[in-house]
Amino acid sequence: MTSDSGGRVAVVTGAARGIGAATARALAADGLAVGVLDLDGAGAKATADAIVTGGGRAAGVAVDVADADAVSDAVDRVVAELGAPTVLVNNAGVTRDNLLFKLTEGDWDAVMGVHLRGTFLMTRAVQKHMVAAGWGRVVNLSSTSALGNRGQANYSTAKAGLQGFTKTVAIELGRYGVTVNAIGPGFIDTEMTRATAARLGVPFDEFAAHAVKDIPVGRVGRPEDIADLVSFLVSDRAGFVSGQVIYVAGGPRS
Ligand SMILES: NC(=O)c1ccc[n+]([C@@H]2O[C@H](COP(=O)([O-])OP(=O)(O)OC[C@H]3O[C@@H](n4cnc5c(N)ncnc54)[C@H](O)[C@@H]3O)[C@@H](O)[C@H]2O)c1
Repeated sequence: MTSDSGGRVAVVTGAARGIGAATARALAADGLAVGVLDLDGAGAKATADAIVTGGGRAAGVAVDVADADAVSDAVDRVVAELGAPTVLVNNAGVTRDNLLFKLTEGDWDAVMGVHLRGTFLMTRAVQKHMVAAGWGRVVNLSSTSALGNRGQANYSTAKAGLQGFTKTVAIELGRYGVTVNAIGPGFIDTEMTRATAARLGVPFDEFAAHAVKDIPVGRVGRPEDIADLVSFLVSDRAGFVSGQVIYVAGGPRS
């Protein structure tokens, strides 16, 4: 989409599949080298290999974003293999859905660990390269669930928390040429929504058709719908957009 990004290095977490993989491909097409990070090391390598086969630059790195030492090592590997990253997309995510009275402490901690602790650790590790460069872009994946969603007390809390993190870090890093924004996807067709349908015992097509009834544009989202906005937000053209939460849900909310 842009030619201003050539030579920059991006890190995308949770990029083995779904929205993260589509984002890694989009940024590579924009000319960025991409550190493809994921808990699933084989999946991360597959995303990176496909980018390299297509003529781009990428490296797959296995990491648990909730583990501080692993995050530090993963960012060092990206620096060594691709160069210092100045773009970070905090996309790694998990769901552990249940109604509040059935939600376990493990369900709560797992979701907070990946979304909140993971985004904090990754952003803290990468921001030093952005500050050194006097330029940077952070995009955090929130969700329409931040507005409230039955069975997701843990996930909606984490996704709302990411909005506060986004706004505060935008204030702290703006003077260094760094913008920080959040995207709140609605219903996107990925393994995450397919797993939700399976857990509810509903065929995915039926689950999606039910969701579409409440989506003004009349379809569910594709990973590329999110990747396209990331592509813009990390470009030079988006330098005056910061601290914002942009819902991408086919309507004002899902
Ligand atoms: N699919 C949707 O409808 C939807 C809607 C709103 C927000 N989101 C958010 O978008 C992001 C991507 O979602 P998706 O639908 O592509 O999900 P997905 O489940 O298809 O992919 C998530 C990826 O994150 C990785 N991951 C999980 N825990 C990790 C960890 N600790 N460290 C590193 N990687 C880890 C997984 O291995 C997986 O590859 C998530 O943050 C999700 O919460 C998705």
